[in-house]
Order: sequence, then structure tokens, then C-alpha cells
Amino acid sequence: MKDTLPVDEKYRIHMTKYFQEYEASIKSTENFWKEKARIIDWFEPFSRVLDDSKKPFYRWFVNGKTNMSYNCLDRYINNEKRNKVAYIWIPEHGEEKVITYFGLYRRVNALAKALLNLGVKKGDGVTIYLPMILEAPIAMLACARIGAVFNVVFSGFGEEALAQRIDDSGSRTIITADGAYRKGKTVHLKKIVDAAIDLSRGVDNVIVVKNTKENIKMESGRDYYYDDIIEDSYVKPEELDSSDPLFILYTSGTTGKPKGIVHGNGGYPVWVANTMKWAFNPGEEDRWWCAADIGWITGHSYIVFAPLLLGVTSIMYEGAIDYPKPDRMWEIVERYGVNMLYTSPTAIRLLMKYGEKYPLMHDLSSLRVLGTVGEPINPAAWHWFYEEIGKSRCPIIDTYWQTETGGFTIAPSMALGMPDLKPGSATFPMPGIMPEILREDGTPAKSGEKGYIVLDRPWPGLMLTVNNDDKRYVDVYFSKYPGKYLMGDYAIKDEDDYYWLLGRSDEVLKVSGHRIGTIEIEDGLVSMKEVAEAAVFGKPDTVKGDTIIAFVTLKEGYEKSSELIDSLKKRMRTELGPIMVPEEIHIVDALPKTRSGKIMRRVIKAVYLNQVTGDVSTLENEASVEEIQRAMDIIRKGTGN
Ligand code: WT7
Repeated sequence: MKDTLPVDEKYRIHMTKYFQEYEASIKSTENFWKEKARIIDWFEPFSRVLDDSKKPFYRWFVNGKTNMSYNCLDRYINNEKRNKVAYIWIPEHGEEKVITYFGLYRRVNALAKALLNLGVKKGDGVTIYLPMILEAPIAMLACARIGAVFNVVFSGFGEEALAQRIDDSGSRTIITADGAYRKGKTVHLKKIVDAAIDLSRGVDNVIVVKNTKENIKMESGRDYYYDDIIEDSYVKPEELDSSDPLFILYTSGTTGKPKGIVHGNGGYPVWVANTMKWAFNPGEEDRWWCAADIGWITGHSYIVFAPLLLGVTSIMYEGAIDYPKPDRMWEIVERYGVNMLYTSPTAIRLLMKYGEKYPLMHDLSSLRVLGTVGEPINPAAWHWFYEEIGKSRCPIIDTYWQTETGGFTIAPSMALGMPDLKPGSATFPMPGIMPEILREDGTPAKSGEKGYIVLDRPWPGLMLTVNNDDKRYVDVYFSKYPGKYLMGDYAIKDEDDYYWLLGRSDEVLKVSGHRIGTIEIEDGLVSMKEVAEAAVFGKPDTVKGDTIIAFVTLKEGYEKSSELIDSLKKRMRTELGPIMVPEEIHIVDALPKTRSGKIMRRVIKAVYLNQVTGDVSTLENEASVEEIQRAMDIIRKGTGN
């Protein structure tokens, strides 16, 4: 951990401002946020900064009235930003499209009008299931404009996953496209939507963007082409309360269905705009590229909302970063003069595997700052990114946060003062964030000791609740250490107070930086007619973080075969989506269980990974050594290990 790497002289330790701001955020929280809330415009000022009378349901900027779409667009259309480029959109193949702040404003209004015409009102749920095309941010902003609560579903999810999210979010309207391009193939999105609607409680309207222009089935009275219903006009932005919901975004846990994380109209914009400014400090001329998908929180906060709130020019890219060739990302950086590139360790490791040759084909000198998110970044990937891509000139902003936190919680700060970077450490907390590392028993861990990371104070970006489930919000996040927000990760604070994130402390997998709940995959497998029981875990992968491994038992009358395994995988792909398909499915005679009936996942995983060493009693608290031995035999027999 002595591996400190000084960054360019001009970014070096001017940390005084950081410490001042940080201290102000903790010691005079109300004044601090009163000031920082000016980053957005308010139709009506808030009467109080923070209401914590119903802890842990914190309410920020009480009674303040505002609108996200207004703050991202209307604020700019009468000043010099009117003609500034909001997005340079780059398709998988073909020519880019450029849209200005005024252009975006106009298109958002036209769709908002269409939504109103269809009867969509403030508080109604709208599911957005779109690829990375401009209509995705337009749809999000159009909903925000009229106060409809949108729920973006990643276009890599399948029909069952989509249906569940449509129902839980109470959506009666879907905005989708005919199809999407994915590495030269087309994905028939509308077909998936039709299947999902059949599985759901049903919807009233489906708005379809013509993207691939393929032939699709349109149900009259329910399905409308986007182009046929948009109406050029002005829609007055709804004056929404700080605590009115802005969107719901689903994320997986270890138990139960995915949690609908609800973010609001006041605290969330203040948080994402301030954190982007602190961490990356984009300038007027900068071209920002957040290479995430809009279907995840990174896309919501740092492709759509924070950049628009700050009036930044973004690159938005439709395709895969290594398609059609492994130099695609570097080609885009060169051609469009990208100054700030924000991506994930998985992407870096993938591109690193292709070799230096590809970045060397391009002039990357426009790059000024690099960023990562999604998983801990391993030092090898960090160094490659720093040296081969940033040419040892660009600081790496490792941002640690999650869907529930709205925006960055721990990250170095370009605006407030850069610490010397340590490869693999996200460094210091953002203002307003008070991390603690706790032992199992709740006592503080010592410096260098691994523990659970919690946040001791509320911050404006904290979710409002879990949709339809206030109890789960309290149980999952505020119960293990009462009153403290549990992030679900292990971490260490080193002797210089740097934070090191060490991965999930629960059984949630991180596949290419995306949180995937083992439970969702197990539920999917068990819903197949042949499958009796399923146990899913992650196998460490040098590129993706985790890959998905499943062990299943079959119901009476079904035989183990490779055709059956293929067919299970195929059905998992349609129902849950390509990202949820196990890489391996092993059929075994029985899954080992504890006396209380809990499947011994950790035993299965340890045997599978050949990690059983000496003392097996620590593998499963509830089971005896004999039971674990027997369990290991079953799995060994099943896999032929
Ligand atoms: C989980 C949140 C935040 C947007 C993308 C993922 C892990 C995220 C880092 C990082 C170490 C990280 C954590 C976290 N994570 N960023 N910089 N260093 N771990 O959002 O799906 O809500 O996942 O991703 O485990 O809890 P998410």
C-alpha cells in the first residue's frame, strides 16, 4: 500500500480546499447544502434543508419545488448554451448525430406533449426499454418534465425480467423501439415487449421508436409509432416537490425480487451535479464520454442528468466498445476529441487483453482525465489505463458508489484537490459522506483491518425508499448497524486514510460491473419445468469479475443431457436476458443442505473452485463437519472433480 503514484504536478496535493469543504459539509451540514442546492433552479425555495424526523426516511430540501427537465434544458435555451452540443451520438455503424441543448429541449417537449395526449399524468409509471439511442435520454427527460415516474429497463434484460419491472413499477405505458443493434445483429425488442406484456398485468400504451425499421406487429389502440404521436409544442414543466419520485431503477439483492430503488426530484439532482463537478470538474469546452449504458445507474446519473445539469457536451455511444474492431473505443476518443473518459474495470481489462497495439493506432492526446466505476480496479488494469491510455498524464478518478447512493460516495476530486493516487484505492469520501469500517460486532475496525463499509450520515443522493416496500428499505440498509447505511461491501481504510474497496460482502455477483442477484437466476432456473432446485454462485473471471455458475437438480422423469443444458441456457436467455445466462450449468443428483434446509452454496462453490483446504467447519455455520463432507462428495461426484 506504499505504492503511491504522484499525478501530474498541476493536480497534486492542493488538498486544503477539499478538507475545508469536507469539514463544512459535516460540521455545518445545513448551511453547506443550502449553498450547494443552488446548482439547480427552484420554482419555490425549500423551507428546510433536511428533515430527519422519520429516520431513516430522510427528506432533503423540504417543500422545495423544482423540475429536472427544466434544470437540464429550459435554463439553457435563452443563453449562450442554447446552441451548445448536448450529445454527439455515435451509432454502432454509420454517421454520428449531433443535438444541441435547444434541439434536445424541442424534442423533449414534443414527446412530453405526446405523453400528455395519451393521458399520462404526474405520478404515473412509465417503463423505458430502449437501446442507447437519443430517444432514451429524451424519454427520461419527457417523463421528468410532466412528473411521470420512469423506470428504465436495461435492453439486455429478457421478457420475464421486463414483465416483473413493468408490474412492480405500476407502469401503464412503455417506450421502446422496434429493435436494437448489438454487434452487427439485431435484437427484436418489440417482440420481447409483447411477450412481457402478456406475462404482466397489461399496459395501455406502447410507444415504438423506429430504429432498425424492421417489420413488427403493432396492436391497434395500444401501440403507436413515436414519429406519429410526437407534437411540436411547449409543455410547461410540472412543479414537483423535492420528495416526489423522479425514477425507479431496479437492482438485485440476495433475497426476494429485485428492489425498485426510488430517487427523488430534489436531493438527487443536487447530488449528481455536485459530485460530477467535484470529482471530474468538466470545463466548458470538454467532451465527456461516460461509456456506460443508460439502463444502469451510471448512465442515469452521468450520461443523462449530471452532464446536462452542468451544461456539458457528452459523447453517447450506441454499440459495443470492441465492435467492429478492438480499437473502437480509441477510435472514438481520437475522432471526437474526447477529453474525459469514464468507463469500467471490466472494459479496461477486456481492451487490455487485446493488447497495446490498438490504443497505439490512435492519437489519444485529447484525454485529460480518466475515470472508472463498477468494481474494484486491480492494479494491473489501473496501470495499463494510466500508462497506455492516459500516457501517465491523466489522473484516474476511481468512483465508488451504487444505485442506491445516486452518485459518487468515494472518489478523488479534481475540483477540490487531488490526492496522490494509489492504484486500486477510490481515495477519499465526497463532501457529506461519512464512511466507517465496522467489524461484525459493530465496533470500528482498526486501520488496515477489513470490515463492512457503512455511511454514518444521510446525503442528498440517498434513495427515497424501495418501491412498494418501505420495510425492505429499513431491513436491507439500516438494520445490521442501526441508523447507519450499509453499502454491502467490504473495505479497508489504510494508514493514510485512503479507502480500498474489496468487493461485495453479500452473495450478489458482479458480472461486468453489473450487480446480479443469484436469487433471480435461481428463480429463473427453478421456473423451468425440468428443474427442481438450483444453486448459483460466481466464479472469478479475469475480465468480467464474476461469471455465473449454476448447479441444479432435476424433477422426476427428466434425464441429465447436454441438450437439456443447452435448452435451459436458451430459455434463460429469452426470459431473463443474455447477461443472466449461466456460463455453466451442472446437473447433480442432490444439492447439499443444512438441517434448516438452506442450500450450502459456499460449500458447493469451494468444492467447485477446488478451494477446500483443511478446516471445512468454517464453510457453513449451520452444518456439521460430517454434513459438509457428505455435501462435498455429492458435488465432486456430480462434477467429476
Ligand atoms: C456496487 C454497486 C455505481 C454504478 C455502477 C454499479 C461496486 C461500484 C466501485 C468502485 C469498488 C465498486 C460495489 C457497489 N462498485 N463502483 N469504484 N470500486 N467497487 O452500480 O449495480 O448499484 O453496484 O458496485 O460493490 O456496492 P450497482
